[in-house]
Amino acid sequence: MATNVAENRRLLSAPQLPECDGPKLKAFPHKNSRITWIEWINQECAQYGSGGQGYVFKVEINSRIYALKVFKFFKPSTYRNTLGPIRGGNVTDLELGFQTDPFYAECRAYAQIEARRESQGLKRKDIADCYGFLALTKADEEVLGEYGIDLWDDIPADDVYRKTSKGSPVRALVKEYIGEDVDMDEKTRKRMLAGIKWMNRNGILTNDVRAENFKGGYLLDFGLSWTKPHCLWRNTSRYRMSAVLTVDLRMFEEMIDEMGLGIRRSPRLLYQ
Ligand SMILES: Nc1ncnc2c1ncn2[C@@H]1O[C@H](COP(=O)(O)OP(=O)(O)O)[C@@H](O)[C@H]1O
Ligand SMILES: [Mg+2]
Repeated sequence: MATNVAENRRLLSAPQLPECDGPKLKAFPHKNSRITWIEWINQECAQYGSGGQGYVFKVEINSRIYALKVFKFFKPSTYRNTLGPIRGGNVTDLELGFQTDPFYAECRAYAQIEARRESQGLKRKDIADCYGFLALTKADEEVLGEYGIDLWDDIPADDVYRKTSKGSPVRALVKEYIGEDVDMDEKTRKRMLAGIKWMNRNGILTNDVRAENFKGGYLLDFGLSWTKPHCLWRNTSRYRMSAVLTVDLRMFEEMIDEMGLGIRRSPRLLYQ
């Protein structure tokens, strides 16, 4: 049986991803440089089964410090059920995977952020940077093994996709490393909210606004994001979409309330 491994290898050596309509993220320019693994940042949450999509490390590449998010493997058809038989008929597994696999979802969100910043001439730093994607070498995969990380553990061992894809390259994003957390004062709250509103206005729903996805006042996790054009966005009923469109702002207000900093406002539509 032809496996998905060769296809995944081909994809990960492409100059930009994913291969579907919409924004595409470039490969990390120093993708062939050696990675020095310094520290597993989210070790505690990952070990206690927080259900995250990745493992984040502090690394050094060419004398520069980065955060490297290594992604678990993901079955492209995972969200097929949410589409239903009629709406799902015009969405291929390939498109679904490129838009819902957390690795590709982050590629699309960061590419959109970059493109919109450029077209609007923004240098504003409400959102931390992503410098591109890379595939790990076999030696780096062994480092993960030494940490006891299994990137396949979300997919059952007898699953056909897993069987035909095992051995595919391990995907990672190179991001700006945020070392320090900040006090949640009014200035930080405003900056966080401004970042979310700007993304919403620019075709990105992040769908995961929670305290643990922020560091230093930056939202860092776009694994569940929908970036336009998106097959789920396109195929969700108008009625449900009106709730979906305000999800980031509602989650932000809930988070702020839980932190005891709440100033309630009614969420408004901020989308194009
Ligand atoms: N760029 C970064 N710099 C520093 N720490 C980070 C960075 N990105 C993520 N982290 C840390 O790693 C944790 C997990 O990252 P996240 O992207 O939320 O992964 P997951 O998809 O597994 O939830 C975050 O809660 C944060 O503490
Ligand atoms: Mg997270």
